[in-house]
Amino acid sequence: MSRAPSGETAVDKLSQAEAKAELKRLAAEISRHDKLYYQNDAPEIADADYDALRRRNAAIEARFPDLIRADSPSRRVGAPPATGFAKVRHPHPMLSLDNAMNEDEVREFFKSVRNFFRAPEDVKRVEPDSIAVMAEPKIDGLSCSLRYEHGKLVLGATRGDGVTGEDVTRNVETLGTIPKRLAGRGWPDIIEVRGEIYMEHPGFAALNREREKDGEPLFANPRNAAAGSLRQLDPAITAKRPLKFFAYAWGEASERFAKSHSDALKHLKAWGFATDPHSKLCHGVEQLLTFHRDMAAKRAALPYDIDGVVYKVNDLDLEDRLGFVSRAPRWAIAHKFPAQRAQTMLKHIRIQVGRQGTLTPVADLEPVTVGGVVVSHATLHNEDEIDRLDAREGDTVVIQRAGDVIPQIVEAIKDAKHDKRPKFKFPHKCPVCDSLAVREEGEAAWRCTGGLICAAQAVERIRHFVSRNAFDIEGLGDKHVTEFWNDKLIKSPADLFRLKAAQIESREGWGETSARKLIDAIAARKRISLERFIYALGIPQTGEATAKLLARHYRSFERWREAMTDAKDHDDAAWQELNNLHGIGEDTAADIVGFFAERHNQQVLDELEDELEIQDYAPPAAGAAPLAGKTIVFTGTLAAVSRNEAKARAEALGATVTSSVSAKTDYVVVGADPGSKAKKAAELGIKVLSEDDWLKLARG
Ligand code: IVH
Repeated sequence: MSRAPSGETAVDKLSQAEAKAELKRLAAEISRHDKLYYQNDAPEIADADYDALRRRNAAIEARFPDLIRADSPSRRVGAPPATGFAKVRHPHPMLSLDNAMNEDEVREFFKSVRNFFRAPEDVKRVEPDSIAVMAEPKIDGLSCSLRYEHGKLVLGATRGDGVTGEDVTRNVETLGTIPKRLAGRGWPDIIEVRGEIYMEHPGFAALNREREKDGEPLFANPRNAAAGSLRQLDPAITAKRPLKFFAYAWGEASERFAKSHSDALKHLKAWGFATDPHSKLCHGVEQLLTFHRDMAAKRAALPYDIDGVVYKVNDLDLEDRLGFVSRAPRWAIAHKFPAQRAQTMLKHIRIQVGRQGTLTPVADLEPVTVGGVVVSHATLHNEDEIDRLDAREGDTVVIQRAGDVIPQIVEAIKDAKHDKRPKFKFPHKCPVCDSLAVREEGEAAWRCTGGLICAAQAVERIRHFVSRNAFDIEGLGDKHVTEFWNDKLIKSPADLFRLKAAQIESREGWGETSARKLIDAIAARKRISLERFIYALGIPQTGEATAKLLARHYRSFERWREAMTDAKDHDDAAWQELNNLHGIGEDTAADIVGFFAERHNQQVLDELEDELEIQDYAPPAAGAAPLAGKTIVFTGTLAAVSRNEAKARAEALGATVTSSVSAKTDYVVVGADPGSKAKKAAELGIKVLSEDDWLKLARG
């Protein structure tokens, strides 16, 4: 942390001109620190130093009252600057849901719930033909978390990336369906009520009519209108928009207030929240599927948009045990409605180059509305898919859109002119860098061989690097990355951290403030968690869950890098350590090791290491994670819990689960009929736990 400037002139010695200049400097500096603190959640100075700046500002103003500036920090006492919303960290992450696209996937999901449990009495409760599950409409709006302390609404936050959202308290306070004080009794002292903010169709239509009259751009659908209306810096605008709220979940709660989800919804209702009246407690998967069909039939007549239904295991004890993987719970799933379809003209097929060099054909379409969203592009996946559809430029095509996934072409209609249109020839060269493209035996994709010289690959990698779940650099959109790359301002990720405001402010569309803001946003990200850093590298098959696993196991960037660089072939201990991690298969291990084998990647890592402070993985506090950093192997058959539940529990307690015993293993949990692993553990002197020992440890 840097210190407040010392050696400054005493306030009573300042001339008028010096005072004026200093007040200007202090206004800018305090406002910058406010932003780092409130918006970026990354203060650069200690609170005491910040207070010193404010005190000096106040002292100068007291001596020179005529010089008080319109933008003086003394006029904004501690309030977040009006340039955006303050960031807030969710005490419990706001999870998302995995999707089931059809009935088979729903049945699969409930089979996996069943297989998670082993004890007969648990299994009985989760048998797919009788399990108690709450079924609710999946509202198409935006999720929001409302924090109540002693019954009073103290914070409203958007989901953001699930970990950090935006403070929209003053906006949510304007919604009639959000109680400012909880009604009734029995609410926990601290409770975060979660649910969906949405807009009903009549209100949406009226809003758009008004916007049309005023010459303002129209909202594409009620969800966009709801999001746009909530995120208004002036809450008076939000107040005029017809927003509503349905409660369906909760985050932090200072005490357990329900035994089941259905019970919890009843409480939420009693405390003054609206809950969706269609929600229904079902028993067995068949009842859930009937609920889904009913809702699909009712959907068109509902006053608000829904895009599927959500199933939640009703018993909260079972929910707790199921826990979650990465960002989605194991106890809930969204069953989406079938994709909506429309016909339109395929104008042109172009080739997009991804960050690993994959050439993906994309169809440019005559814009068409599908399920309330205007679609003008669709993916054609790969060469074989174009052949299978026999899609040609100029054809009429059927497109479908399901949920948030990229629209797809499902059929090219063979009209009279179809045969006269030329067949599409898949290019054998990269359209961006002109390098040769290759399609390996057994692969569906053509790949550009340009590697580092390919602009498309470089730009895509940087886009990934700055994206929300990676470095999350606000204000650096795709368009900017391309422009900065073209003008050689950023050639590799480390260049981002060497950018200067002066290089940006004179560019078209930029000014002094926006350039400063961007540089601040980049500087605020110099300190980064190991898991975000690993994810940002964009190593093939290394998504967020894998990145987290690696961070948790290797703990520090140095250790991870050393191990990956040592893991040259399958016989190396470092290779085996990686491959043994539960959740990392042979292919993923090969991709990670392959990344480190490239000399230029090592150079990128060197440069990044110079610019960044990559934080070691911080295991959760000991109380919350008694097994933090421990490596566990399960072997043999466990009697009370399934292998899946044992692994999930170990991971929730901070441990890493691996499949084979080595000197790095801390515990081997031995069930009935153990194999060679138990023997090996004994040979290596590793602590062996019986199932009972394990259960005691896991219960804490
Ligand atoms: S439960 C851990 N229930 O769907 C469970 N979500 O795809 C958290 N959503 O981010 C969500 N209706 O915005 C739940 N009845 C409902 C919902 C619902 C809509 C949204 C929510 C969530 C997204 C996940």
